[in-house]
Amino acid sequence: MNSNVTLVDHPLIQHKLTLMRETGTSSAVFRQLLREISTLLTYEVLRDIPLTTKKITTPMQEMDAPVIAGRKLAFISILRAGNGLLDGMLDLVPLARVGHIGIYRDHDTLEPVEYYMKVPSEIGDRLVIAVDPMLATANSASAAITRLKEVGAKNIKFVCLLSAPEGIEALTAEHPDVPIFTAAIDEKLNEKGYILPGLGDAGDRMYGTK
Ligand code: PRP
Ligand code: URA
Repeated sequence: MNSNVTLVDHPLIQHKLTLMRETGTSSAVFRQLLREISTLLTYEVLRDIPLTTKKITTPMQEMDAPVIAGRKLAFISILRAGNGLLDGMLDLVPLARVGHIGIYRDHDTLEPVEYYMKVPSEIGDRLVIAVDPMLATANSASAAITRLKEVGAKNIKFVCLLSAPEGIEALTAEHPDVPIFTAAIDEKLNEKGYILPGLGDAGDRMYGTK
């Protein structure tokens, strides 16, 4: 496997992802499962973040106890569907700063169209975690990461639920410095750029749109 990629395939994640893929799963359950998987992914994504210590007093004595070092993390949701991953991440790291990049892909060209961007200040000093459930052609993720770099982000990770081999290859070629975390790598893209077997359109499934 591409060394940039971490496949987070804990049995709990695989089971929940199967439920998400099924056509009959309601939007409410789909969102809830995405939130739960996101929490489990976050645990792995943050495994190597640096720690420092602070002096605390337990009921027994003083100690130098570990705490996360540095500036608050920046979570960046690639709208719309990124919000489904964001919620679970904020459950674990409620003090993280949050940014949004609005991008949709044109249905015919599959090219990304940006319509919104607002990200935390001092982004160059933060660990930046960009999230979007689907990595298909990677056009959206690649454009979002390019924009984050333009405004100064230096330490970026990308987290998704489902990825296609074509998307992993494209994102790695464009941004070799950005590690990718995914819960599954599916077979391929179809002629319309959808992931197979996939789960369909993530945003539509989350929000009941079509
Ligand atoms: C979906 C998904 C990704 C993108 C992935 O968004 O959430 O952003 O497609 O495809 P790509 O890797 O080929 O770019 P969509 O364009 O459907 O927008 P939405 O989140 O607003 O529904
Ligand atoms: N975006 C989605 O939401 N689903 C796909 O399969 C591909 C891109």
